[in-house]
Amino acid sequence: HEQKKAFPTDFLWGSASAAYQVEGAWDEDGKGPSMWDSFTKIPGKTFKGTNGDVAVDHYHRYKEDIALMAQQGLKAYRFSISWPRIYPQGKGEVNEAGLIFYDQLIDELLANQIEPVLTLYHWDAPQALADEYGAWESREMIEDFNQYCITLYKRYGDRVKYWVSLNEQNYNSNHAFITAMHPPGVHDRKRFYEANHIAFLANAKAIESFRHYVPNGKIGPSFAYSPSYPASSQPRDMLAYENAEEFQNNWWLDTYCLGHYPQVALRYLEEHGLAPTFEKGDIELLTKGIPDFVGVNYYQTITYEFNPIDGVAEGKMNTTGQKGSNEDTGRPGLYKTKPNTHLETSNWDWAIDPIGLRIGLRRITSRYGLPVFITENGLGEFDKLEADGSIQDDYRIDYLRSHLEQCREAIADGVDLIGYCSWSFTDLLSWLNGYQKRYGFVYINRDEDSEKDMRRIPKKSYYWYQQVIESNGEQL
Ligand code: BG6
Repeated sequence: HEQKKAFPTDFLWGSASAAYQVEGAWDEDGKGPSMWDSFTKIPGKTFKGTNGDVAVDHYHRYKEDIALMAQQGLKAYRFSISWPRIYPQGKGEVNEAGLIFYDQLIDELLANQIEPVLTLYHWDAPQALADEYGAWESREMIEDFNQYCITLYKRYGDRVKYWVSLNEQNYNSNHAFITAMHPPGVHDRKRFYEANHIAFLANAKAIESFRHYVPNGKIGPSFAYSPSYPASSQPRDMLAYENAEEFQNNWWLDTYCLGHYPQVALRYLEEHGLAPTFEKGDIELLTKGIPDFVGVNYYQTITYEFNPIDGVAEGKMNTTGQKGSNEDTGRPGLYKTKPNTHLETSNWDWAIDPIGLRIGLRRITSRYGLPVFITENGLGEFDKLEADGSIQDDYRIDYLRSHLEQCREAIADGVDLIGYCSWSFTDLLSWLNGYQKRYGFVYINRDEDSEKDMRRIPKKSYYWYQQVIESNGEQL
């Protein structure tokens, strides 16, 4: 008879956040400004001009937040370290107060039997390095990032086993250098590929150092993974889908996991004058960055169709929650996106596709043979605080449950899945969407217009996940 499908007994049931989105305390205890501290203050860049100056005040309320994690039974908490809190100038003199904050955070987690999962970089590069040499556009970044990482390895390597190197290099650099929606706000594909190449080298260098300083730890990047679908079985749509896989997914995943760029995409870029500049030693360094696991941030699949040479380029992205305001986007001659009529979407037009997660996990397993850690998965929605003080987020429970069911299927398929972090533990600041797009198990009583009292209120989904963890995923 069929063996019961189950999660491994040591499965890391987690939840996640990022420094800029939760901490606040943007200029306290010696912290320097990050690129996001500057960028969000330029009028018109974010929804209602929101920024992370205060965010959800996790810097001052981390004990209360961790107590809620412990009560829920969380086994792992993924958070990121703010580089300019550690090095206010990006390099040089270290800020001991910044290191102490994360000492306390990590110790508090461990005291509550919660495994810390430490992200080295979640987009908030020091503004000082942007001013000095253009941050990710200069190779100086590789060694400065390495030194920052080594500082963290030495300080926390005795207590932290799971590390994430770069968070969503693909998504972040796409918005930094193509759509101009993230700092430095550039529209230039050549600069995109150059900066990305530098980020790949920095990632590899940081992993090479990790092997030396934290030999028993596990490290991997978190990739914003949207598996591709073809819009139809027409060969030209199939080719568009192959192109999208190559340029949107394999470009990163191959480079991380195999240590080299996919050939077809690289050749195309060379012919179009867009390929990154290789220097002596680059190819060798990339092969030293092979991770222990692939971190997957999964929200949706994307469907592609044929795009003629004079076809669709960048379209506007929905950052308001007005359903239907997302525009198709593409690369002329290669592919363009097409809404998948078989899938429901969120109010931000993100396709809800639990089976797509199973497909993605299997693709990674077959192509790279590495363990996978889901470092983000969740639903951003409007939530309503009811008069009785509750938040009935059944839609979030449905979303998480259906995705966890597919994780269980993927494990039975042979995927080595080591953990699952929902995005996010508490509500937090969405980079571009303000506070109205909520993801948390815990509601934060604040909005764009007022910080209110920032009271923490567990939602219905908080209690649902509690029993999921308690039953090790048997009761979804
Ligand atoms: C990922 C990021 O892109 O998705 C998170 O790693 C982010 O930092 C999350 O918040 C959700 O995105 P958004 O735009 O809905 O806040």
